[in-house]
Amino acid sequence: MNRKPETRCWKISIFLATLMVVRASIGLQGQTAAPQPPPLMLGTAWYPEQWPETRWEADLALMQQAGIHVVRVGEFAWSHMEPREGQYELDWLERAIAAAGRHGIYTLVGTPTAAPPAWLTRTYPDTLRMAEDGRRAEHGNREQYNFANPKYRDLARKIAGQMAKRFGHNPYVLGWQIDNEYEMASFDPDTKAQFQQWLKARYGTLDKLNAAWTTEYWSEAYSDWNQIPIQTGYGNPGLLLSWMRFVSATWRGYQKNQIDAIRANADTRQFITTNTMGWFDGYDHYTVEQDLDLAAWDDYVGQGHLDPAKNGAADDLTRGFKRKNFWIMETQPGSVNWAGVNNSLDKGEVRAMAWHNVGHGADVVSYWQWRSALNGQEQYHGTLVGSDGTPVPLYPEVQQLGTEFAKAGPVLAGTSPKSEIAVLYSYDSRWAIQWQKHNHDYDPVAELVSYYRPLRAISQSIDVIPPTDPLTPYKLVVAPGLNVLSDAAASNLIEYVRQGGHLVLGQRSAMKDQDNGLQPQRQPGPLADLLGGRVEQYYALIDPVPVTGKFGSSQGKLWAELLSANNHETEVLATYGESNGWLDGMPAAITRKTGKGRITYLGAWLDEAGMASAAKWMTDISGVKPALEAVPDGVEVCPRYGSKGTVYILVNFSKTQQSVSLPSPMTDVLEGGSKPSVTLPRYGVAVLSAAH
Ligand code: GLA
Repeated sequence: MNRKPETRCWKISIFLATLMVVRASIGLQGQTAAPQPPPLMLGTAWYPEQWPETRWEADLALMQQAGIHVVRVGEFAWSHMEPREGQYELDWLERAIAAAGRHGIYTLVGTPTAAPPAWLTRTYPDTLRMAEDGRRAEHGNREQYNFANPKYRDLARKIAGQMAKRFGHNPYVLGWQIDNEYEMASFDPDTKAQFQQWLKARYGTLDKLNAAWTTEYWSEAYSDWNQIPIQTGYGNPGLLLSWMRFVSATWRGYQKNQIDAIRANADTRQFITTNTMGWFDGYDHYTVEQDLDLAAWDDYVGQGHLDPAKNGAADDLTRGFKRKNFWIMETQPGSVNWAGVNNSLDKGEVRAMAWHNVGHGADVVSYWQWRSALNGQEQYHGTLVGSDGTPVPLYPEVQQLGTEFAKAGPVLAGTSPKSEIAVLYSYDSRWAIQWQKHNHDYDPVAELVSYYRPLRAISQSIDVIPPTDPLTPYKLVVAPGLNVLSDAAASNLIEYVRQGGHLVLGQRSAMKDQDNGLQPQRQPGPLADLLGGRVEQYYALIDPVPVTGKFGSSQGKLWAELLSANNHETEVLATYGESNGWLDGMPAAITRKTGKGRITYLGAWLDEAGMASAAKWMTDISGVKPALEAVPDGVEVCPRYGSKGTVYILVNFSKTQQSVSLPSPMTDVLEGGSKPSVTLPRYGVAVLSAAH
């Protein structure tokens, strides 16, 4: 037997191992190595700079007792880290990280660029953001900076680099959060010039831009790049969309500036993320997330109570950014301070919400915040300890979660959701509809959720992804309101149907091209031939319209598209009842089985009952199966799949106790034992594991 290759492998392994030890010991700089962080963690936002160091131990001990394993620090502490330009003071943060480590608590370090110090914006006034009305932001709140300003980027790069030099090899630092909730663009003259340059790079010539935006309309034609204004809300649709794309690219550049500073100084083990805001649409998240290692979002209910469909869809949206598990970087310990009514979540609801997040793929749930600063803008926000530093009534509920996460972590390690259905989401489409709603009640997120809700109830798992992602793994792909259809997305969808998939287009789909111009064919534009039908006319509705057919009898609201079929394979699924005369008796939904695949167009926004039976039809005909059959309404089933088996997280959001019979006995991870069924009180949770 020739042992040579093996010997060589051995030698390489020994060499690599030695290298790693040497590298680690250089990296640790005398610090002891941290053990592996638990696979499922509770966390909290902690602001050590707001408290005397003598208080830290007490806070960290209380965190440890609650089962908290990660703190996020630093994201608003720039004036504490760099009190004067170039004078970096990071010793306190190093001590805070070490103190947390002594309590078995890891750290996520935030770069502080969402809140620049007063000296900075005073010395360099152009670093302040300019609002659309021409007014400069001022010091005293946060997010007052200009995301496109080169000087600001220079200073941001320096502080991020200094921090990474100090903490980039710290064994207790798991990763980095860049800035905090990117939100506000700047409209200053320099940013406008950058926008014009960006347009030049995208379109190449003014002739191309003028053609794409049809600037013959209202004499809008441009003969110089510097004539192009910034418009938001109302303006040429091509210009509006371009501005949002520029804003997205600028946030990406803003972020990359800091990523590069960190990457140059940090272990690859440390990940880089930022915290997004669910359905927030101030930039295209698919653009900005490209350069990150991990997605994370801030999950706040605000007023009212958790809507599992809407919140679960936002979890799935976030999971779709990197196509893997994510973090809940912030969530409310009971209540927020910024809603109309800042009601608390009910007793048990915080725990139910956390498990629901985990069911959708969160591996960390972190509360904002540990304790309110004694002064400052957010004194009324929910916390885990009061202003006196002792636990609030919610603390034991979070502590229970801490114990449960410790039990379930090893079982959930390496598992993640897997779906047979993809719901397509695109920022371009959302903006395009919002700019020209045509019915002021038309909300594209509500439209998405109207599909998601019944489909999720049936399938128990959905991926939310952009229309250009690979689609072959899915049995059913649903595109609610895919208004802007790029050529690349159109080819992707056509190919998916050709390969045997079922594509369902929701109302308002495929009306616009990639420049937000009308497609030269009627909806669904480049997909009309495949559908063997089209939209003859759309109608904004004041009154609901009856719809009958395969989905039973229901009401269509807000919007109705009169469809036609022009291919013998195209079948009418539902028709409108008596309405405005135009719609009466005309097709509201059509489908065509073509080759191995199928394409369906639903032109009406059906009520909940109608959507539920439409979802039933879609899933039946596509062969989509639930993970667990016969689960009572209101019980959310969230399967996570791994190499050793499946873990089902069940959360009862109904108002009463519910029993769930299991297809075969499963291990009750939280309570122990093998169970043929489980009974869940309101907000009750079960974590059940079934080996292969
Ligand atoms: C956001 C911010 C936090 C805090 C919370 C309050 O998510 O990131 O700093 O202001 O809101 O809900």
